[in-house]
This record gives sequence, C-alpha cells and structure tokens, in this order.
Amino acid sequence: MILKQYYLGCLAHASYLVADEASGEAAVVDPQRDVDEYVEDARRLGCRIVCVFLTHFHADFVAGHLELRDREGARIYLGARAEAEYDFTPLGDQEAIDLGQVRLEILETPGHSPESISILVYDRAKEQAHPHAVLTGDTLFIGDVGRPDLRASLGWSAEELGGMLYDSLHGKLLTLPDDTLVYPAHGAGSLCGKNLSTDTVSTIGVQRRYNYALQPMAREEFVRVVTAEQPDTPPYFTYDAVLNTKERPTLEQALEEELKPLSLDEVLALAGQGAQLLDARDPADFAGAHLAGSVNIGLGGSYATWAGTILARERPIVVVAEPGREQEAAMRLGRIGFDNVAGYLDDGMQALEERPGLVDRIERITAGTLAEQLGGPEPPLVLDVRSEPEWREARIEGSSNVPLAHFEERIGELPRDRRIVVHCASGYRSAIAVSLLRRNGFDNLADLVGGLGAWEASSRETGAPAGDGRARLGPPPLERPLAGKNPALVVWTTEPLNAETPLELLCRSEITPTDLFYVRNHGPVPEVDPLSWRLTVEGLVREPLTLSLDELGRFERATVTATLSCAGNRRSELAAVSDIPRQVPWGPGAVGNAVWSGVRLRDVLIAAGVDEDARHVAFAGLDQAEEEGELLQFGGSIPLEKALSPDVLLADEMNGEPLPPVHGYPLRVVVPGYIGARSVKWLSTMTVQSDPSANYFQARTYRLFPSRVRTETSTREHGFPLGELPINSAICRPLDGEAMSGTKLIARGYAITGGREIERVEVSLDRGRTFLAAELLDGDGSGWRLWQADLEVAPGPGELVVRAWDSAASTQPEDPASIWNLKGYLNNAWHRVRFTATGDACR
Ligand code: MTE
Repeated sequence: MILKQYYLGCLAHASYLVADEASGEAAVVDPQRDVDEYVEDARRLGCRIVCVFLTHFHADFVAGHLELRDREGARIYLGARAEAEYDFTPLGDQEAIDLGQVRLEILETPGHSPESISILVYDRAKEQAHPHAVLTGDTLFIGDVGRPDLRASLGWSAEELGGMLYDSLHGKLLTLPDDTLVYPAHGAGSLCGKNLSTDTVSTIGVQRRYNYALQPMAREEFVRVVTAEQPDTPPYFTYDAVLNTKERPTLEQALEEELKPLSLDEVLALAGQGAQLLDARDPADFAGAHLAGSVNIGLGGSYATWAGTILARERPIVVVAEPGREQEAAMRLGRIGFDNVAGYLDDGMQALEERPGLVDRIERITAGTLAEQLGGPEPPLVLDVRSEPEWREARIEGSSNVPLAHFEERIGELPRDRRIVVHCASGYRSAIAVSLLRRNGFDNLADLVGGLGAWEASSRETGAPAGDGRARLGPPPLERPLAGKNPALVVWTTEPLNAETPLELLCRSEITPTDLFYVRNHGPVPEVDPLSWRLTVEGLVREPLTLSLDELGRFERATVTATLSCAGNRRSELAAVSDIPRQVPWGPGAVGNAVWSGVRLRDVLIAAGVDEDARHVAFAGLDQAEEEGELLQFGGSIPLEKALSPDVLLADEMNGEPLPPVHGYPLRVVVPGYIGARSVKWLSTMTVQSDPSANYFQARTYRLFPSRVRTETSTREHGFPLGELPINSAICRPLDGEAMSGTKLIARGYAITGGREIERVEVSLDRGRTFLAAELLDGDGSGWRLWQADLEVAPGPGELVVRAWDSAASTQPEDPASIWNLKGYLNNAWHRVRFTATGDACR
C-alpha cells in the first residue's frame, strides 16, 4: 500500500494519495485544485486514479475533484449527507471502497460541517481488521479539532455543529486503537482551527493524551472551548464551500482564459474600468518600483489567502509578476476559486521602462531609523497590521493596531496629515497594507523592513528597549528626496547622502541598477556646469593638459564592467566586536557592480607624457567635506602602474546612461579592484607625482590601523593607506533573521577580490566545520562573482556561513575580532546569517 501525504504550506492543506500497487488502483483524498502532482505520482507508480474523496466541502480552497474526474475519469465520493450539483456516490457509516487489498471505510463524523466524513485506511495485505490510519479531514487535527462555527451563513449554528463534533470525536474517532495514524486535512496556519500543530501526522493515542479539545469535558464545555477565540475567516470561505458543491470550469479551463499577455495600455484601460492590479512580486521589488495603484501580495507568502481576503472576486484582476511566474500567480488564485484574472502585464515591470510617470515607489526604513524618527520632533504613527492577539502579545510601544484582515474597512480611521510607518511580524503583510494605503491616496508612508522581528533584533543589539527615543546610530528622518535614488535603499545619512543597497535586491542581477547602487558621499554633491568644467592634468608630465568634455571625447572610448566596494562595507560586523564611533555602520550592501564607459586614464596620461620619476597619479574632486572642523577637498591616489592598466577609466557613463550627479557627473575615476575611495567623483585635477597623495582622505583616513590601536592620536603613521581590495564574500539571501518556509534554502550572494580571480565560494551550515561548494554564476569575467547554493536544511533555526577563495589561494579570516581596526575598514571575515526554516513548503 502507498499512502502519500501532500502538504501545501501556503494554504496549510494536506491531501493524500492512497494506492494499491498490486491492483494498480489509486484514490485521492481532499485534492488541491491543481492535480498534476497526483496524476504524475500515480503514473509513476503504475496506478490509475479511480476515485476521489472529499471529506467535506472545504471552505478554504477549491478542491480538485472535478479536475480528477475530467482528466482521469475518477468517480467522486462524498459523505451520505452531502448535496451537490455534480454526479457523486454518497457513502454512509461503514460503507467501504476497496482498491485491491486496500480498503477505505467511511466514518461519518459531522461537526466541522454536517457532511464531514473521516476515512479509515486498511492495508489488508498486512492486517485485516486493524486500521492503519484514519484520514480525519477537518474533524480532528493534530493538536486541535475543526471549528464548528463556519457554517453560520449556511444555516447551521455553532452549538448544533459543536454538539455533533463532540459525538463524532468521542463516539467514533476516539474508539479507534491508539496506534492508528492520524492524517488531517490541515496543519499550522490554517484558519479552520486555532491551535494546529506544525506536525502533519500523529496517532490517536497521542491526540487522546495531548489534544486540548479531546480532554474529558462535558459537551457544553466542549462547545464553549472550541468556539472561543477563533480567528477571523476571509469572505471567500463561504463562497468556496458552496463552489465545492457546484459544477464549475476546471482549473485548466479557467487558466486557458486567464493567461493572456496584456500590453500596458490594455492594463491601464482595464484598470480604468475597475480591474484590480495585483503585483505578485516580493515586497522589496514592489517597493523599488511598481505600477501606481497596484496592490502587492507576494508569491513568497500566504498569497492566495491574502488575495482572497483583500481582493474582490467579482472584479477582474490583472497580474503583474516576474516574467515566467504569471501562471503560478493565476493558478494559486484558482486554488481558492478566484477565476477572475483578466490577464497579466506582458514583460512585467519592463513594460514601464518608457513610462516612468506610471511608476510608484514605497519607502522602506530600518528599525534603527524608525527608532530615531520616534525620538524626533514629529514622531510617525506606528501602524501594526498583525492580528489583534499578536498585537496583544508583543508590540512596539505606542503602536496602533489595524489588522490586515479588516484593513480597508478601517482605513478611514487613519490620519492623512501624519507620517505612517507600517509593520507586521516580518514584512509580508505590511507590504500589502502599505500598498493599500498608497492606493487610497496616503503618501507620507514607510514600510518597516523585517517587521517586529527586525525591531526586536535591533533593540537587542543596541541594548536599549526599542522605541525609548534614545539617540542611537542610524539614519535621520528622510526629509528630502534621495537625489533620484530608489527609496528602497537603506539610508544612513541624508546630508551628505550615504545609502546602501538592501541585500534582498543586491544580488538579483549581475549589474546593479543605477538607482539601487550604493552612494558614499563625504560632502554635498557639487553642482557642475558641463560647459565650463575642465580636467587639469599636471605634475610630472611633459605637457600639462586642460581638457573640456569635448576634448576628452576625442580619446578612444572604452567600457568596463567593474565593482565598487566601499572600504567600510560590512563595518557593522566589526562594530559588533567593539565600538567604532562616528562611522557609518555599513552592512554588506556598500558594494555594486556597474558597466562604466568613458576614456582610459592611460590614454590621457600618455597624451600628457609621464616623466621618469612618476610613481603615482593623484586625483581631486570638486566636492568639499567637513572633517575635523575644516572644509577639505576629496582626493586620493593610485600607483602609476595601476593607473596605466587598461581597465582604469575616466567614466562619464554608468550602465549606459550619463553619470548621475550623485555618482560624480560629469566625470569620475573608476579603479577596479581598489577601495571605492580611490574612484574619485566630480574629478577636476589629476597630478602625476613621485609620492602617494597627501590628501586627507588618503594620508589621514582610509588607512588600516593595527587591531591594538584604539585611538587616532599621534598614531596615524601606524596605519598604511588602503588600496587593493582583499578577497571578500557575503550572503544576500537569506537575510539575517529571515524565516523561510520549507526546507530548501536557496542562498545567494557575491564574492569580490582585488586584482585576482574568484576561484571558489563555499558555504557551511555547521559554523564552518564543513563547507560545500556554491555555484559561481556566469558573469562577464570582470567585476564581482555572484554565487548560489541550493541547500537542504533541517526545520528550525540555522546559521549559514560563506567564504571565498581567489586565484592566489587567499581566503577570508574566520573571525571579525581578529581583523578589527579603529576605523572599521575592509571587514572580510566569514559572513554569517541566522535563519529559521519552518519546514512547510509553500509553492
Ligand atoms: N569622490 C568624491 N569626490 N567624494 C567622495 O565623497 N567617495 C568615495 C568615492 N569617490 C567620494 C568619492 C567613496 S569612499 C566611495 S566608496 C565611492 O566614491 C562611492 O561611489 P558611489 O557613491 O558612486 O557608489
């Protein structure tokens, strides 16, 4: 006998294939509407699906009984009390269906619904009279029982059904032998009960002992206990329960109608006629750019449940998804009976490239920023959109609670003249809520990245209770637009602008989009008039030059893909070892890979004619930064040898567009493999000289001090100036503290090195005792190497570690404490993230 459980994490739904290999007959119990997996498994086992059972008319999804009937010719079986439009065989108590030696025997177990049945499974090849298992539908769960209050709108009171449930449990299920396996139709997260375990199988004996609802109590007490404090159910529940009694189009038929690519104009026309725009991408992508007016419900979470809660079934839905995921977006709506998809935006967000006016963005802020804003003169309203019991259990002090399940009804309660920062537990629900607020015209909004989890982690790190208003290291309020940058950036300071790419967006693509590229400014962005701007080349040259942009344009053009990495990238991990005051606490996102175009520095130097004594080329920018009470010009130098290498550019283009002001317009240096500080922006002067630059940003700072040096006084000579980057790597996915469904972990990140090649990236799940090789993703041979590791992890908390090796066999040190330095530069210790795998797969 084969008894296989299928667990669909995002609907917390379990279904079953029972097969007798000898006779080649199989049955499916409580199928989901997409039935491919059962059909394929049955084929693999050499079986035919001859029957399909519904233990009851499910309210939380549309079952796949009609699909199996039409595709496989399976006969439909329901409980004796069921009434349905389609043809089925009703089965009463003790009636049985035999599949060869496997017997499926019905127990009528009304309670959750009047027609509910449980199915006893006998493997008669092994034991004739002793049941192997019982498929309990929504009558008995692991740790709970099926709530009896969902049929009120269909004319059944909770008391009536609760009484029936009591009898079904005590009179039938609890009379079974203790070793009978219990296989329910739902697990943790289902709204069909309130205390469901994360286990998906148990035994009658264990449930008898530990299930709160099976403990000895009078019938009235039982009804009171099992109807108290049940979670809200979405409106589509009643619809689905009724739909499961009807003849209706199959999922295949519905999808055929729905999977229509639509042009942007067609989408806009449909929206104008009342269609709902559903953006199924991840919250971070949505925040970065989305079609104005759309609602974000990401495929990465309980997508169907929230779509069913938020969207109207009567109105058409237009899907915006990552290209290639449109079918999944429509199919998962079909699982709950939402067959009203009018089509999807062809090419996804790329369709909007030429229409920037239609793009909207959402600001995302870190816990540190929120803490600062709460301590500031105009604290925002903190809006918690988790359920009320979650809010009662733990919350940010002073927050208001409007649960997402009732959000749109209560949106009128929210102030329009005050900034609102929305959060949930981890960032999935808050993204939905923020998109609803935006759709309703709220504009002073932000989403708290990582939700309450990140807030709690941040308050643990700073050692202060979160929200106490104390000053802490972190960005000030966003008061001004971010110089054309994407508001999804993690902003550390706005004046000057210092912002890094959020990790979940960093390793999406080989080339970092310009609006997401990190910004490191020491002073305000200078305004440069391109007509009067000149580049001066002087010092140890035969012919000093003064070049206008036009004159530079006469040199041969060159294009280079290169990574810039700030010397302070990953400083926050060093700061966790020992304080690093007055420095931006960069995470691993102060790095980016771009395509730079311009002219070769070498060609300009050759035109000027370099003297024999020349050893270094110094650069100076047009900006001035305030340091130690003085206004100082930014600059630095690189050795002549590097300056003559063909990959060093004077760039006027970034990713195929003119260099944006914040990245150095009209001209910057790009020195691949060196710390970012040497890629001087707003370049005005180049001096060829025998010594390294005496500029403050080379002679006084951007120097590496020994670990023991704890103060800067009179010890500057102990430090050496930084140049080439060491080997480094970091994990972008999962995020530190992320909880992920399933046990498959797809980790991703980057690896960089100075003048060498990345040869190998390795990850470890046991804190570095053993390492596995990650896959190096294809790049164009220059710049960073992105990597990916597809891992199987155990449910529960875990830690992922990464390290890389380069072509000189250099690798990263294990411990950041061993490389701690006064200014927190060049942290390349193994990067570690903690994660939790919930074990239930969500597809
Ligand atoms: N150039 C000037 N003129 N002024 C600056 O503040 N910052 C440097 C470098 N070039 C800087 C500069 C530093 S420290 C880094 S890491 C890179 O620019 C950052 O480049 P980006 O802001 O274009 O990402």
